Amino acid sequence: MSLISIIFTALFYISLFIFIVGMGRKIRQFWITPVPLKIPIAPTPLTQTGAIFKMIREVTLFESLFRSNKWIWLFGFLFHFGLLLVLVRHLRYFIPGDLPEIFLLIQPFKYAAFAMIIGLAGLLVRRIFVPRIRYISAPSDYLMLLMLIVIGVSGAIMTFTSNHTDVMMVKAFASGLIVFDWTNLPTEINFLLHLFLVLVLLAIFPISKLLHVPGIFFSPTLNQVDNARKKRHISSWALKQEKENTVKLEQTIGKDE
Ligand code: HEM
Ligand code: HEM
Repeated sequence: MSLISIIFTALFYISLFIFIVGMGRKIRQFWITPVPLKIPIAPTPLTQTGAIFKMIREVTLFESLFRSNKWIWLFGFLFHFGLLLVLVRHLRYFIPGDLPEIFLLIQPFKYAAFAMIIGLAGLLVRRIFVPRIRYISAPSDYLMLLMLIVIGVSGAIMTFTSNHTDVMMVKAFASGLIVFDWTNLPTEINFLLHLFLVLVLLAIFPISKLLHVPGIFFSPTLNQVDNARKKRHISSWALKQEKENTVKLEQTIGKDE
């Protein structure tokens, strides 16, 4: 194997390791964080099923973003939906052996690259030109958008211009990573840049704003049932405290009697 292939193979496993451990730790932290109050946002679901459907609408349609700002919704939705289709198409590199026939049907998903890039460009323009948003933007906000744009554009260059790469070699390399059968990867600079940024993105995922992916499912404004007037809500740590208080109170009452 060439040196560059060895470096990228190692980088893949290092980034994947950081991603899995980092995400595991963050999800655990989200899981055990107390939720002391009932704070669902309107229109509030009154049942658990309602709360599940609300979350599904939020994740698939970005419902609350749609209500608050149509332009951000449009660009945000174009980007995320494009990304989803692009990632589905990328599965063909990672599945070892022959691909299921469905992959012939999803060939047109390659055009989702444009939705993704247009969406990202719109979000970047908003960060730069809307004073309110520029004021609250940190360098990492720009960095994320720029990295994703470079990944998208370098991918689109491979797909839509004559700067192709050897996709069979990419498939052997990527599926080889999954089954531990390592091979050389193509060495066009465009492909290496694409892959390198993807691996960087994977490694910084657990310490970046990309944590909104698991985070949205833990958001109390979105996942709570509005039953505060029917059922008393006590978070787990408060429950422990309350039990201790009750015991103390009973002891005090006992003494008085
Ligand atoms: C469960 C899947 C996901 C959901 C529900 C989701 C939802 C959202 C929402 C609602 C926003 C806020 C838009 C705004 O108000 O500015 C957002 C922003 C963003 N998302 Fe996601 N997202 C998901 C997955 C991802 C993934 C996989 C990536 C990238 C790998 C990503 C990258 C981004 C970025 C970079 C922004 C910030 C855009 C900006 O700076 O304006 N998202 N996402
Ligand atoms: C290890 C992971 C990845 C590998 C090996 C990889 C490789 C490739 C290759 C070889 C192409 C050219 C396809 C062709 O010529 O038909 C491509 C296209 C593309 N890639 Fe990636 N990529 C990876 C991850 C990603 C990720 C995470 C994103 C998005 C954030 C992305 C976005 C794109 C886009 C937008 C295109 C153009 C549209 C398409 O062909 O589907 N890639 N990628």
